Amino acid sequence: GANEAKKMIEAHELLKKFYHHLLLNTKEGQAAFDYLQARGWTREIIEQFEIGYSPNSWDFAVKFLTGRGFSLELMEKAGLVIRKENGGYFDRFRNRIMFPIHNHHGETVAFSGRMLGEGQPKYLNSPETLIFHKGKILYNFHQARLHIRKRQEAVLFEGFADVVSAIKAGVAYAVATMGTALTEDQARILRRNVESVIICYDGDTAGIEATFRAAELLSGTGCHVKIATIPDGLDPDEYIRKYGSERFQRDVIEASNSFMAFKMAYLRRGKNLQNESDQIRYIEEVLQEISQLTNPIEKDYYLRQLANEFSLSLSALQQQLERYKKTKD
Ligand code: UTP
Ligand code: MN
Ligand code: MN
Ligand code: MN
Ligand code: MN
Repeated sequence: GANEAKKMIEAHELLKKFYHHLLLNTKEGQAAFDYLQARGWTREIIEQFEIGYSPNSWDFAVKFLTGRGFSLELMEKAGLVIRKENGGYFDRFRNRIMFPIHNHHGETVAFSGRMLGEGQPKYLNSPETLIFHKGKILYNFHQARLHIRKRQEAVLFEGFADVVSAIKAGVAYAVATMGTALTEDQARILRRNVESVIICYDGDTAGIEATFRAAELLSGTGCHVKIATIPDGLDPDEYIRKYGSERFQRDVIEASNSFMAFKMAYLRRGKNLQNESDQIRYIEEVLQEISQLTNPIEKDYYLRQLANEFSLSLSALQQQLERYKKTKD
């Protein structure tokens, strides 16, 4: 119950501090520290996120936790150690860069451990526990909350590294889901705190597909949604490393556009809009999207935009739109 949860959080807090110390101040943590520096992360940003290093040992956490009076049975429930067939225990996280995950009160409730370099799984996460429900937490929400409320805007990323680099680049209102699709709970948390959400997912195929789903979900919750697109299949962290903070702010975040603009850009891909039949196909596909809109002002706006772009009469578009509505009913 409540007491178990309290103990679990206490264990996470203590381990987090020790992992962080190992990364910053010891020879054991040097390779992990070098790896992070090579990614462009300063000591300052590592400190802000309390990133750590779990040593290459089967029983570091086991000894650390028992030495401080925690029962291993409880630590197993907390996801920090794993039980062997013979009844012994070993560390879940070994030789990994440790990202502490905080709940919305700022308490440490889980970890995600990244490999140094390539390998599987790239990130190893705490399991679902009494204190950690992955689908109900947004990474970095506890630090971003005030900025988010002040701006009435949040930027939603896919991963830890994207948030860390975005904050380093001066985007303080950054949060992330942790590798899984945005959940209803997470969408509601955002809605309770902001008017407007910028989705800034990876520029690869998976990221683009996830963008559609997240945008539908957030719009359905009543958020105003904008999409920031990252070119060349990069992810936000890679983009920041390649082009720098200013370009990220200007060309990605400030250039974020409506969900409809994102859909239109998507529908244009693979079409030659100089070609008549491609053009007509495109116009019809955009009209189908417009027919789904519930806001009459938006509907009118995009209809006019389409009419202007292709020198069509508004009434022809409206007639066609009526047909889509009828076939849908
Ligand atoms: P990505 O594969 O895009 O990783 O997964 P990343 O964030 O760019 O990581 P780096 O830059 O290589 O370090 C996006 C998110 O999905 C989750 C993590 O939360 C990750 O940040 N993930 C990914 C996992 O939980 N496990 C994995 O093995 C991989
Ligand atoms: Mn609570
Ligand atoms: Mn990805
Ligand atoms: Mn990524
Ligand atoms: Mn990345």
